[in-house]
Amino acid sequence: MTGLFITLEGPEGAGKSTNREYLAERLREAGIDVVLTREPGGTPLAERIRELLLTPSDEAMCADTELLLVFAARAQHLAEVIRPALTRGAVVLCDRFTDATYAYQGGGRGLSQERIATLETFVQGTLRPDLTLVFDLPIEVGMARASARGRLDRFEQEGRTFFDAVRRTYLKRAEAAPERYRLIDAAQSLEHVHGQLDRLLPHVLDVYRG
Ligand code: TMP
Repeated sequence: MTGLFITLEGPEGAGKSTNREYLAERLREAGIDVVLTREPGGTPLAERIRELLLTPSDEAMCADTELLLVFAARAQHLAEVIRPALTRGAVVLCDRFTDATYAYQGGGRGLSQERIATLETFVQGTLRPDLTLVFDLPIEVGMARASARGRLDRFEQEGRTFFDAVRRTYLKRAEAAPERYRLIDAAQSLEHVHGQLDRLLPHVLDVYRG
C-alpha cells in the first residue's frame, strides 16, 4: 500500500472534527488525494453500527458487545474505504481508530489490552496508522465543550473516572511510541491549534513522499 494512514484521537470535545477539515484542506492544497473518514462509521453499514454504539438505551450494553461492535464496524470500514484508498496512494485522515478502542474499551471499560490486541490483529492484520495525532486537553474542558453541544451520546454520559482513564491511556500510548504519535495541545484556541498543525505539515509531507 502506497498511501499514508493518519488517525486523529482524543477525548470528547477536543475539536478533532474541525481540525481534521483544516488538515485535509492544507493537504489538498499540496495536491494530495485526501480521504476524510471517521470511526465508528465511514460506510453505510458501519454508520448503522455507530448508531447502536452511540444511542443511549434502556438495555445496558455489555463491554464485550461494545468491543465486538467497534471491531465489526472497523472490518467493514477497512474493506470498503481505508484499504482501497491506501492502495491507490491517498492520504486517509481518519477521525478515531483502534487507539480509541484501547482508550475507551480498554482504559474506560477496563477490558484487557491483550484481548483488544488479539482483535486488532484479527481485523487489521499488520495494518496500523502511520501517524496518530492525539488532541489532548483537560477532562473538564472537554466535558464542558461536549455538554455545550447539546444531548450527550452514550459515551459522553460517562463520568470523570471514565474519561480520566481514557486520557491516561492515550497519553501512555503516545509516550510508548513517540515515532508514531504527535501530541496536540487542544486546550488552546483554534488559531493556536491550527498553528500546531501547520508546523506538523512538513513532517506529514516528508513521511508521505518517503
Ligand atoms: P466521536 O467520533 O463523535 O467523538 O464519537 C465516537 C465515540 O465512540 C466516542 O465517544 C469514542 C467512541 N469510540 C469507542 O469507544 N471505541 C472506538 O474504537 C471508537 C473508534 C470510538
